[in-house]
Amino acid sequence: MPAIVLVGAQWGDEGKGKATDTLGERVDYVVKFNGGNNAGHTVVVGGEKYALHLLPSGILTPGCVPVIGNGVVIDPGVLFGEIDDLTARGVDCSKLLVSANAHVIALYNTTMDKVTERFLGNRRIGTTGRGIGPTYADKMNRIGIRVQDLFDEPILRQKVEGALDLKNQILLKIYNRRAVTVDEVVEELLEYAGRLRPMVADTALVLNTALDEGRTVLFEGGQATMLDVDHGTYPFVTSSNATAGGACTGSGVPPTRINRVVAVAKAYTTRVGEGPFPTELHDADGERLREVGGEFGTTTGRPRRCGWYDAPVVRHSSRVNGVTDLVLTKLDVLTGFERIPVCVGYDVDGVRHDEVPMTQTDFHHARPVYEHLDGWDDDIARARTFEDLPKTAQAYVLALEDLSGARISAVGVGPERGDTIVRHDLLG
Ligand code: GDP
Ligand code: IMO
Ligand code: MG
Repeated sequence: MPAIVLVGAQWGDEGKGKATDTLGERVDYVVKFNGGNNAGHTVVVGGEKYALHLLPSGILTPGCVPVIGNGVVIDPGVLFGEIDDLTARGVDCSKLLVSANAHVIALYNTTMDKVTERFLGNRRIGTTGRGIGPTYADKMNRIGIRVQDLFDEPILRQKVEGALDLKNQILLKIYNRRAVTVDEVVEELLEYAGRLRPMVADTALVLNTALDEGRTVLFEGGQATMLDVDHGTYPFVTSSNATAGGACTGSGVPPTRINRVVAVAKAYTTRVGEGPFPTELHDADGERLREVGGEFGTTTGRPRRCGWYDAPVVRHSSRVNGVTDLVLTKLDVLTGFERIPVCVGYDVDGVRHDEVPMTQTDFHHARPVYEHLDGWDDDIARARTFEDLPKTAQAYVLALEDLSGARISAVGVGPERGDTIVRHDLLG
């Protein structure tokens, strides 16, 4: 099973990092193909907690080669900060490969992200403030800085000058900020060039060759389907393709080589930042999901908005990603609820919708139609087979499987590496 894509099925933080880590030593390469340090993956190994942002979760598996693909945007300061922190904790980061075509987040784009959000006021997106959107905008505008530019100072200077020509006007005249000098940007980026150089590779060539040799490559998506710039709740999305297609454009591995697509979904739903969220709870149940599930952002520490499982959302994800397997996480968080509502459709201004509505206006107006399933009281954290689960928990998983457009191949019952029930081997 050589090429597997793993993506988020909801609005992020589904437990993708843990799912990648669980596949562990059977994977030879783990590739991050989109996003940047807006991602936050918490992985718990032997009681030790690791928070990863820019590095793929495969970095925690000895022997696995972590790859940052061309579709990623890289803040070099964050990259080396993360490498240094992990190295100090005994994690070997020496195998990391970085695409020469990946774009770099220059300091003016982090500034631009923050001032734009402030300017938007109540129309803000609620971004992570890491410069992600402006850097992808520069890429599309063809004024971006790529990793390879750090090794050609005259070109780097020329490109930074070009970008700042316009940006300084905006910073000064619209946002009332100081202008950024070409020198400070170039000097900062050049500081990282020497350390970056040995990691840089033609990653598309490396990955296609690895597949030719029968190696197993896992493409780990950041963010999630509903945050995808094309298939999510635009404009309340991130600025990259977090869906399975993004794995191809963001790595240079073609669709004909992908064998399997795994989507990770929580047994309920969360979202960080602004935007529509039909099953969101503003009551004690929502508080309980947040507290029990530890639903506070890994990147920004913001409390995550919490709500019940939204089946049409996951079905949409199954469809646009071509999902072959679902990993359902955090089932343990639902323990103790007497009845568990599951959204099976929406009421949009009096009209029943079975699928995610076509227009954003309708999705903003969508009110969830719930079916209520029986809960369970027994602690399920030690369950290791499907049959170990209480009957009502089994019924909950089977009902979600029926509603969600793909088989549920694994069920998460706790944050630790081993806290997973495997129903179908994801690599088999
Ligand atoms: P990611 O961004 O998709 O990798 O997810 P995050 O790491 O941001 O958020 C998921 C959180 O849930 C992390 O703190 C994980 O340690 C935790 N987690 C993952 N799977 C499970 C599970 O099955 N049960 C519980 N209780 N926690 C889990
Ligand atoms: P992982 O990989 C949850 C959200 C932000 C904001 C929107 C745009 O951990 O699942 P951006 O900074 O990307 O321009 O912000 O997207 N967002 C995430 N929400 N998990 C993430 O990543 C996210 N990455 C971005 O909160 O609403
Ligand atoms: Mg996360």
